[in-house]
Amino acid sequence: MRIVYHDVVIVGSGLAGLRAAVEIAGKHDVAVLSKLHPLRSHSGAAQGGISAALGNAGEDSPLWHAYDTVKGSDFLADQYAVEVMCNDAPRAIIELEHMGVPFSRLESGRIAQRPFGGHTSNYGRAPVRRTCYAADRTGHVCLNTLYEQSLLRNVSFYAEYQVLDLCMSDGAVNGVVATDLKTGEIMIFHARSVVLATGGYGKAWKTTSNAFANTGDGLGIALDNGIPLQDMEFVQFHPTGLYQLGILITEAARGEGGILRNGEGERFMERYAPSIKDLAPRDIVSRSIYEELRYGRGAGPLKDHVLLDLTGLSKKAIAEKLPEIESFAKTYLGVDPVQAPIPVQPTCHYAMGGIPSDVNGRVTRDSEGSEVSGLWAIGEVACVSVHGANRLGSNSLLDLIVFGRRAGKDINRYLDRVCLAPLPLDIGRGLQAVRQVDALKRRRTGETVHQIRSDLQRVMMEYVSVFRDEEGLKKAVGDITLLQERAARLKVVDQGRVFNTELLEAIELQHMVNYSKAVAVAALERKESRGAHSRDDYPKRDDGSWLRHSLYYFEKGGGYRYEQKPVDLSLASRYSMFVPKERKY
Ligand code: SIN
Repeated sequence: MRIVYHDVVIVGSGLAGLRAAVEIAGKHDVAVLSKLHPLRSHSGAAQGGISAALGNAGEDSPLWHAYDTVKGSDFLADQYAVEVMCNDAPRAIIELEHMGVPFSRLESGRIAQRPFGGHTSNYGRAPVRRTCYAADRTGHVCLNTLYEQSLLRNVSFYAEYQVLDLCMSDGAVNGVVATDLKTGEIMIFHARSVVLATGGYGKAWKTTSNAFANTGDGLGIALDNGIPLQDMEFVQFHPTGLYQLGILITEAARGEGGILRNGEGERFMERYAPSIKDLAPRDIVSRSIYEELRYGRGAGPLKDHVLLDLTGLSKKAIAEKLPEIESFAKTYLGVDPVQAPIPVQPTCHYAMGGIPSDVNGRVTRDSEGSEVSGLWAIGEVACVSVHGANRLGSNSLLDLIVFGRRAGKDINRYLDRVCLAPLPLDIGRGLQAVRQVDALKRRRTGETVHQIRSDLQRVMMEYVSVFRDEEGLKKAVGDITLLQERAARLKVVDQGRVFNTELLEAIELQHMVNYSKAVAVAALERKESRGAHSRDDYPKRDDGSWLRHSLYYFEKGGGYRYEQKPVDLSLASRYSMFVPKERKY
């Protein structure tokens, strides 16, 4: 078996992985592995912007940003981590600008900023322009810039390699097993530090803004290696996905003045969030849309969607600030947003939960915060937790940049200090992966990936979406357990080695059923409503019992273990407005 050595192996080439790589390159030998070409990473699909209290378009402060983030999270975010992120945001944006990100500009020449949901000035007084942007292609330009910076610093790229497992010695991570999708070869990447930056997992839901690649591979691998997943019950539905397709229509459309209307033409958000209306946080807007549909006030013959009305914006404003979404609406629905409202519905968009990690990206394995030596997790696969029960729009790109850099710095310190040589490699993990792939390809009976994946997506959509209840969640846990068994027996028809995408999808599906069970179990356990987790049978937030993070462990043989850990309230001990209270907008 071929073994390649790098000091650091980063799995995932989105913004978090690339930002960490840029920090490490030149100091240590760093490689980035991705199942995609780096420029196809899903960070590139982020449209509307990246938040920072620069104050270019009105007074702002990092503390106001932190307050909005904590309140938006329904008080579940760890407050120290939020403080770190919001304080670092202005510096991080200027750094991106200096690296070459072509931000949109104000007349004055400063970086332009737009309003986004839940971002306010003066602790909730009025919407603030805090989100920096490059038209509606912000993720795309940041990704291209960081890829260029990585090439400039000679980061080694392994594009189209699928990670299969971690290598471990004495409980410490010292490499990964991966397969080269172009040849089918399975090999080991030996390393002193491994970073999981594999992104989100929205592909387990039928309607999603996520790309095909967002199958939560890092989460599945963590579970297989005894690492828990934190706060998995909190899954964000973005209010405005294109009707029946789920493709993202950026929140910036509302930031620039777009209005949501029901089938009767009414601006219904006035009812649900009287002060900031369409710019309420996403959990509230998505729930409000479903309420409208429940009351029969949807649009179209089926009354199953609402309308995003941009007709109040000028043709020039749409062309300059929202060109992507203008083209999506025209291409996919034949709607010109200058002339007519866009049919939209909530779409599964973002995972607040993930692999527990600290503010330096170090993975922790229990409620005491014990570290998994040699392993870091950053970006959407990680749960730091800065987003708690609900993320504010445009805080995601910020999370990637801030914690990607911090992990890079931490790894540099670790490598300078800790060990001179990599831990000896146990190639058993590599051989096991070869045996598993062979067994999968040899099986002649069983269902195909497609059948099982469609059933999973239907179950998640039906029982584990915006509104949940005990009966539905119990059904989901039972159904997913059966899907895990079916996935363990599936067959792969394609016997080829070169770009065997059926085999790739079979591997992805094992992860999908496993993390989906974590989502359903954690949602069933949490007997309250908080942020994106809304229980019809427990409609109130219950801080007395549930101001806690959840931890889900996978036990071999299909079982699981559920634990809790405390929420950090360090800002609340200094500023009274950070003490948890009812959220009003
Ligand atoms: C959007 O532009 O609405 C998506 C960006 C984000 O999720 O923060």
